[in-house]
Amino acid sequence: MNRSENLRSGFMQDEVEEYIYELLPERDAVVGEMERYAEEHRVPIIGPAVARLLSLFAQVSGAKHIFEMGSAIGYSTIWLARAAGPKGKVHYTDGNPANAERAREYFRRAGVAKRINVQVGDALDLVRKTPGKFDLIFNDVDKHQYPDALRAALPKLRKGGLFITDNTLWSGKAARPAAADDADTRGVRELNRLVYASKELYPVLIPLRDGVTVCRKL
Ligand SMILES: C[S@@+](CC[C@H](N)C(=O)[O-])C[C@H]1O[C@@H](n2cnc3c(N)ncnc32)[C@H](O)[C@@H]1O
Repeated sequence: MNRSENLRSGFMQDEVEEYIYELLPERDAVVGEMERYAEEHRVPIIGPAVARLLSLFAQVSGAKHIFEMGSAIGYSTIWLARAAGPKGKVHYTDGNPANAERAREYFRRAGVAKRINVQVGDALDLVRKTPGKFDLIFNDVDKHQYPDALRAALPKLRKGGLFITDNTLWSGKAARPAAADDADTRGVRELNRLVYASKELYPVLIPLRDGVTVCRKL
């Protein structure tokens, strides 16, 4: 089966990657529809394997106050909102109002709209401005912004909280020095370097799909 670009790591053996996706249970109607929409319209979502990882971290950490930086059509937001439960609050952010409009409709249909605060604008500004500290911050903004996203998010994360970033292997390009004109690879590599150098964080880079770096704030 030919998986969409979204779901392919670019560095893992095809049969191993296929095996990981075959194991996954069917998703419900709304989430399944979002996956098909993302594939047809080339919206870069995390996909169901990484979504389960994100949900698992939210569940085991008991995260209730969650901030998402770069939410697109709200696919990862729905997984976070479900993991947080009825008492949870997830802040959706995206710079594109059309994405937010579509996301709102999915949230309503998925029955999680009350748990989600939709904010349109720059996620780095919004994380700084939104009151309170967060139990979990998920970072999926443009890759060249990753180091600035980390600097914006860290003061807003509570001690013991999780800072999770997607695409940290960047199709394997993160493993090689970036070309001079490749700001995205530079951003991803710098984020990984910064979190592993930080005395404030305990990071692990998980090579699932395109790489997910999970950090606990000490
Ligand atoms: C990879 S997609 C997010 C996918 C989403 N996390 C999911 O898995 O369902 C990145 C999104 O972040 C948005 N974005 C990128 N940089 C941003 C920023 N600085 N502030 C707000 N949104 C941003 C883009 O508009 C795009 O929709």
